[in-house]
Amino acid sequence: MASRRAFVSSVLGASAALPAFRSDALRRAIKASGRGGGGPDDESYWGEIQRAFDSDRTMVNLNNGGVCPTPTHVLEAMIRDLRFSNELPVNHMWSVLEPRIESVRRELARDFGCDPEEMAITRNASEANETMIFGLDLKRGDEVISTNQNYPRMLTSWDQRARREGIVLKQISFKVPPPSPEYLVEQFRAAITPRTRVIEVTHITNLTGQIMPVRQLVEMARPLGIEVMVDGAHAYAHFPFAHADLGCDYYGTSLHKWLLAPVGTGFLYVRKDKQKSLWPLMAAPKEMDENVRKYEEIGTHPAANHNAIAAALAFHRSIGAERKIARLRYLRDRWAKRLLATSDRVWIPTQLDTPYSGAIALVSVAGLDPVKLYSWLLGTHRIQTVAIVHPEFSGLRITPNVFTTLDDVDLFADKVGEAIKKGLPAA
Ligand SMILES: Cc1ncc(COP(=O)(O)O)c(C=O)c1O
Repeated sequence: MASRRAFVSSVLGASAALPAFRSDALRRAIKASGRGGGGPDDESYWGEIQRAFDSDRTMVNLNNGGVCPTPTHVLEAMIRDLRFSNELPVNHMWSVLEPRIESVRRELARDFGCDPEEMAITRNASEANETMIFGLDLKRGDEVISTNQNYPRMLTSWDQRARREGIVLKQISFKVPPPSPEYLVEQFRAAITPRTRVIEVTHITNLTGQIMPVRQLVEMARPLGIEVMVDGAHAYAHFPFAHADLGCDYYGTSLHKWLLAPVGTGFLYVRKDKQKSLWPLMAAPKEMDENVRKYEEIGTHPAANHNAIAAALAFHRSIGAERKIARLRYLRDRWAKRLLATSDRVWIPTQLDTPYSGAIALVSVAGLDPVKLYSWLLGTHRIQTVAIVHPEFSGLRITPNVFTTLDDVDLFADKVGEAIKKGLPAA
């Protein structure tokens, strides 16, 4: 107890010393973690977390996969730095704030479980992933395996290399839900030829929320000399894992998704001994060949955004990765299991009750067009979802986050239940 009090007062003392820093959120997270256990159904704990955000509650936001709000105190830290930068950018931004990126690097590396010299800060997953995709030397005829469920921008990037340089992109298909992790590895293995150089895999898909067996893929591909690039846009800070659980050489993620850092933040991990052979997207001098900062040579950019990652990471760690995923799965199951029990027309190709899914789930209702259902929920009830229409499956993608309330997911389940019973009104 004494040590907890000492910790609380030292954290509050530090934040109180910061100019114009609204420390409510941190204070709430600390207070909340002290009572009620903070379990997945501890509404007093999660109520405090919800109030750390200035959410627009006139809308039920169940599209928290693409981009997310940052807690108010993180936003304010960023705004404070933006104002300070603007007073004298050449000095305040370049000399005072920019060097602080090194603490962000250190903290992200600590959380991801790598050496800081393997961690580059990017503006999003696209920048990190495109560094991997365009950075590797490949020759005409070299083959890349991805799936037809990889993120479209990454597929477009490979396709541009195919059009420009004559590499070959193979997009494999896999069943949703897949029968087993071994089945998934087997689909990749079956597409390998002597010309295969790279596998690009999504750590968790943005379509059904399938967590892919990255480690098994790396173990299968590495002895064959095949590079595995991991698109972790939706994975980092969503469910607990560290680099050692994956063993991959390259990993890219966004931080404005599940870490809840400000918009325009991401990271790229490149194993130390791979840095020499992976070119940066924007040119860097030869002396930086083996320096992970070569991936940050992007020209003038705000220091405020990437420095605010440190505050978002502290907020994330104050909740704890295990506690967070338990809550996210609780929210997901609350709507998903209820809808499954409502009607046998409901199909959820996300692997509930397994370690292979998190907050993201897809729901499909036989006889209900997902695009029309999406429009009705949004237009009539102000419930934001995403309609997914893939050549092999379709449905609504639902993603709660830590600021989602039980009322939010209940309203969604009520309204879909209503549509199942009565159908959708004619347009
Ligand atoms: C799987 C996947 N990869 C990459 C991205 C790109 O992320 P960003 O737009 O933050 O660069 C997304 C975005 O939703 C995604 O879902």
